[in-house]
Amino acid sequence: METLTSSTRPVPKHPGLPMLGNTLPFMRDPLAILQTLQQRYDRLVHLNIGGRHQYLVMTPEDAKHVLQENHRNYGRSPAFRVLQIFLGNGLLTSDGDFWRRQRRLAQPAFHRQRLAALAQTMISETTDWITELSRLDKSKPVNISQAFMDVTMRIVCKTLFSSNVVGKLDGLSEALETLMHLSNNRMLSPFRFPMSWPTPPQRRFRRAAQVVDTFIYGVIDQRRRSNERYDDLLDMLLYAEDEDTGDWPNSGRMSDKQLRDECVTIFAAGHETTAVSMAWTMHLLTQHPDVQARLRDEVNERLGDAATPAPETFRSLTYAMQVIQESMRLYPPAWIMSRLAHADDQIGPYTIPAGDTALVSPYLLHHDPANWPDPERFDPERFAPGWEKERHSYAYLPFGGGPRLCIGNQFALMEMQILLTMLVRAFAFQPIPNQRVKPQPLITLRPKRPVWLLMSNQIS
Ligand code: HEM
Repeated sequence: METLTSSTRPVPKHPGLPMLGNTLPFMRDPLAILQTLQQRYDRLVHLNIGGRHQYLVMTPEDAKHVLQENHRNYGRSPAFRVLQIFLGNGLLTSDGDFWRRQRRLAQPAFHRQRLAALAQTMISETTDWITELSRLDKSKPVNISQAFMDVTMRIVCKTLFSSNVVGKLDGLSEALETLMHLSNNRMLSPFRFPMSWPTPPQRRFRRAAQVVDTFIYGVIDQRRRSNERYDDLLDMLLYAEDEDTGDWPNSGRMSDKQLRDECVTIFAAGHETTAVSMAWTMHLLTQHPDVQARLRDEVNERLGDAATPAPETFRSLTYAMQVIQESMRLYPPAWIMSRLAHADDQIGPYTIPAGDTALVSPYLLHHDPANWPDPERFDPERFAPGWEKERHSYAYLPFGGGPRLCIGNQFALMEMQILLTMLVRAFAFQPIPNQRVKPQPLITLRPKRPVWLLMSNQIS
């Protein structure tokens, strides 16, 4: 780490209103303001959003500094506190030694070999989903955003809790959706009642939380008593043992509360992000029939007409992966990340003061013409094999970076590749004339309105 020197200069401050600072434009149209900031400043800019001093880093080098090289100086920002009401102290919201231990315990559940077993679940869920889609009336448009929310929900629930809970998942999915929705609203609302107040949304929140907790604690209890093993994430988390901390409760294993928090976190972090990313990808494919045709050629060649393709087959679909990567470049679901500085941090000639927030925006970095020429153009060729050698590794960070890199990144990429390729093999997609699809940056960067499209069955 560089040390503070007399060459320290004040960070350029973006002009705003007295008291409110830059809050309003950030609430109204954050992507537009990111674009303005990118044109006006070259390294770091000081913003006042929601009464807090926030420092946006603008280069891949500085993003790497905050997320990786000096990550120990940065913790979870206050934005994560709202999520804690729903997620408890899981991987996404926890910090410090507690987080480090949890990450160590959870990591093996996401190893490559483990993912192969989960891929089987993804393939069979996708096969059932495609059968359902093939029964739809094809003369009518399909709400593909909703369809992806349904299937990714099924996949995350099945990969977490396995098939021994089939039938009970319906009430659970609804309750989890309610919790996500209400937390989203609370996070974005400038006025928050204490959680103990019995307002109607908070009563709904409590009811939903009870459904989720009863379900998860019930499954945990059943697993602990039966000692039966399953091919799912919960099994991995239940039996994960931390040898360095044998004196923790449960001899280095997670407590029931910790298991509950990690399950809900995996659900929340992994469900909407994947669904939103798939909706963008399908939208882009309807706008670019040439890319759709090339993708279909690859899929037909590699997958053939196998009813349930083997998991290894998907790895050879390189163009499909390029399409997904380019879609996440244009529309990274996690469009901005924030960190709280514990101590002053020197970024070149500037200082981020202790107690303030550093912001890293994958959206900004992915749309910077210095990193990505003609950045608004959709071109999967940017990710042709070898692309990593030509760019700074932090010019592209849909899954974040450093030690807090998304633990589910390989899981998500595999799931998206399976969904995309099996869909494209089964159907052809056309746009709805005059549909305008615009991004809306909430917690995730989702399309403002659901994406609708026309589908026709492929003739094999
Ligand atoms: C397209 C899909 C996904 C995207 C774009 C995405 C993106 C991200 C990003 C950017 C972070 C880092 C946040 C930060 O540093 O502040 C993150 C963290 C995380 N993600 Fe994902 N994610 C996706 C899918 C998934 C899936 C499928 C799972 C689980 C099955 C998952 C579980 C997690 C967890 C547990 C964390 C917290 C990790 C930690 O701090 O140790 N994500 N994700």
